[in-house]
Amino acid sequence: MEKHFKRTLITTALPYANGPVHIGHLAGVYIPADIYARYLRLKGEAVLLIGGSDEHGVPITIQARKEGVSPQAIVDRYHAIIKQSFEDFGISFDIYSRTTSATHRRTASDFFRTLYDKNVFIEKRSEQYYDEEAQQFLADRYISGSCPHCGNERAFGDQCESCGTSLSPTELLNPKSTISGSIPVMRETTHWYLPLDQYDPFLREWILESHKEWKSNVYGQCKSWLDMGLQPRAVSRDLDWGIPVPVDGAAGKVLYVWFDAPIGYISNTIELRPDDWQTWWKDPETRIVHFIGKDNIVFHCIVFPVMLKAEGTYNLPENVPANEFLNLEGNKISTSRNWAVWLHEYLEDMPGKQDVLRYVLTANAPETKDNDFTWKDFQARNNNELVAILGNFVNRALVLTSKYFDGKVPPITELTAYDEQTLVSLAGAKAELERLIDSSHFREAQKEAMNLARIGNKYLADTEPWKHIKTDPRRVSTILNISLRITANLTIAFAPFLPFSMVKLGKMLNLAPQTWQNLGSDLLVPGHQLGEPELLFEKIEDDLIDAQLQRLEEARKANEAAAYRAKPIRETIEYDDFAKLDIRTGIILDCIKVPKADKLLQLRVDDGLEQRTIVSGIAGYYKPEDMIGKQICFIANLAPRKLKGIISEGMILCAEDANGCLSAVSPDKPVHPGSEVK
Ligand code: 2FM
Ligand code: ZN
Repeated sequence: MEKHFKRTLITTALPYANGPVHIGHLAGVYIPADIYARYLRLKGEAVLLIGGSDEHGVPITIQARKEGVSPQAIVDRYHAIIKQSFEDFGISFDIYSRTTSATHRRTASDFFRTLYDKNVFIEKRSEQYYDEEAQQFLADRYISGSCPHCGNERAFGDQCESCGTSLSPTELLNPKSTISGSIPVMRETTHWYLPLDQYDPFLREWILESHKEWKSNVYGQCKSWLDMGLQPRAVSRDLDWGIPVPVDGAAGKVLYVWFDAPIGYISNTIELRPDDWQTWWKDPETRIVHFIGKDNIVFHCIVFPVMLKAEGTYNLPENVPANEFLNLEGNKISTSRNWAVWLHEYLEDMPGKQDVLRYVLTANAPETKDNDFTWKDFQARNNNELVAILGNFVNRALVLTSKYFDGKVPPITELTAYDEQTLVSLAGAKAELERLIDSSHFREAQKEAMNLARIGNKYLADTEPWKHIKTDPRRVSTILNISLRITANLTIAFAPFLPFSMVKLGKMLNLAPQTWQNLGSDLLVPGHQLGEPELLFEKIEDDLIDAQLQRLEEARKANEAAAYRAKPIRETIEYDDFAKLDIRTGIILDCIKVPKADKLLQLRVDDGLEQRTIVSGIAGYYKPEDMIGKQICFIANLAPRKLKGIISEGMILCAEDANGCLSAVSPDKPVHPGSEVK
C-alpha cells in the first residue's frame, strides 16, 4: 500500500561554487525539484525546498591559486551569482545557504564526531605524496607527471586528460608538485575511512528489495556498485580548505568535501527551522527526496545513507530521482571549454523569458537518457507551442470575451456533444497530471498540461465563435464560457511549470490564487469581470537564435585553437638534426597564381645569390600583388620538387593557426636577402 506522508523535504544537489550555473544544472536538478515543490505546495502539503552552494573541495583551491586569491573569495563570488540565477528563474527555495556557514561547519563537525565516538570509522595509515618545499600533502590534482599509458607529460595524479585514463598519483612517471614544482616525497599520513563494505547487507535490503520503484537508471547504478563490491572510503583529506577534522592530532586535516556536502542539506534545514528541523529529518512521516544528476548517485544512494544509518537517528531518502545529462548542440556541456548556456547570460539576451527556458528544458529533460538542447528546438518550441498553442488560445479567449461581452464571463446556454466531450477532457487532466508528477515524470506532465491548451485551441478553431456572433450569440456565450474555463484551469495545471506566466495569466483573468484541488472545476462565475488581456509569449525571430549560435561557434573556434596550441611537441632531436636545415631570408620579386591550382602561388625569390622559383600553397591567404616586395624565410636546401609542372626550389615558412589559416614568417626588420635563420 502507498505510504502517506505528512510533509516532504526536497533537497537539490549543492552546486560547486567555482563557476556560474548553466542550463544543464537547471534541466537536471533544479527545475524538476521546483516543479515538484510548487505542485505539493499547491496541494496544500507541507514542503521545504532546500538548496545551497558546495564551497569546499580541491577544485576551488586550484581556481583560487590560479587567480591568486583566497578560496573564500572564489566561493563568495560564485555563491552570489548562483543564488541570483536561481532566484531569477523562479526556483522557489525555502533556503539557499552555503557550506561555509557557521551552522554547517558546526553540524558537519558534530556529525563526524558522533560517528567517530561510535567507532564507526576505520583509522588507517598510508603513504602519500608530500611537497617538502610547500610543506603540505598533495591532493591528486596537485601532482603532475607523465602518463604511463600514453606518455603525455602533463597528466595529473587523478587522470590523464590526453588519453582519459583514471590514474592514481603513484602511477605517474616523474611526478612533480604543481604547487612548488619540486619532486614530492612519500610520507605517512592517517585518515578515517567509512567502511561501506560493512553496510552491504543493509544497502541490498534497503535499495534492491525495498526500493524497486526507483528510476531504473538509479536502481541500476546502485545495483552495479553493490555487485562490484564496496570498499571503505576515506572521509578526511590533508588540505587547508574545508572543515577541520574534529579529533585530537588531526591538525592540517579536513573533512572530505563529499562527507560534508550532503550534511549541508541538514545544516540548511537547521538554519531555516532551528526549532523543528528534527521533524523534517527524523519523523517517520516526513518524506525526503533528493534531486541530483547522475554523477551524484553513488553519494546519495550509498555513501550518505550509510552515514545516516551509522548515525542512527535520521530518516533515509524515500526517493532519489536522478537525471541523466543534458548536452548542448550535440556536445557535452563543459565549463572549462565554455560550451554552455550560462543562466545569467541567457537573461541578458532574453530578458523576461525565464518560462520559455523552463518550458524547453522540461520538454527536453534528460529523465531517462542524455538529451540534447539546441537553439533551433528552443525557437520551435517557443513559436509552435508556447506562442501558437498556449498563448494563442488564451489570448483569443480573452480578447473575444472583451470584444463580445465587455470582458465579462458569459454564461453557458446549451451544451453540444462536442462541448461535453471537451469538458470531460478538462475534468480528466487532474488525475493524469498527479499520476505523472507523483512518479517524477515531469516531462510527460508538462506535455499533459500543454495538451489541455491544445484541446482549448482546437475547440476555438473548430467552433469559430467569430463566425457566429451575429447570428447566434447564445452559442458564442457557451463557447467562450468553456474556453475561459479551460484558460482558468491552465493557470493551475501550468503553475508548477511556468510560474511567471501563470501569475500573469491569473491577473488577466482577475482570478484569485488557486489550489490544486480546484483543478478541473468551474473557476469563473458568469458575470465575473476579467482583467486586461496581454500577450503571454512572443515569437522568437531568427536573429536572436543566430546570435546564440554565433556565440557557440566562437567558443568552438576558441576550443579548437586551444587544442591546436596544446598539440604535443614532437620528439626531441639533436642539434645536428636542426643544423641540416639551411633556412634563409629572401625577398619576393614577383608572384603569380598557378593556373588550375586554387591553392598555389608561384614566387620568384631573390635569395641573395641568384633568383629561384618557389611554389607555395598560400593562395587562399595572400593575393599575388600583396606578396611582391615581402621579406620571407625559406628552406634553401630542400630537394627541388615538381608541383603542377613547375620545379619548386625551396619552401617558405608559415605559421598555421587552428583554423588552418597561414601566415608567412618574415624577419621583423629589413635584412639582406640570403641571411641565415638559426
Ligand atoms: O557534483 C556536484 O556539483 C556536487 N557539488 C554536488 C554535491 S550534492 C550534495 F551532496 F551536496
Ligand atoms: Zn595518458
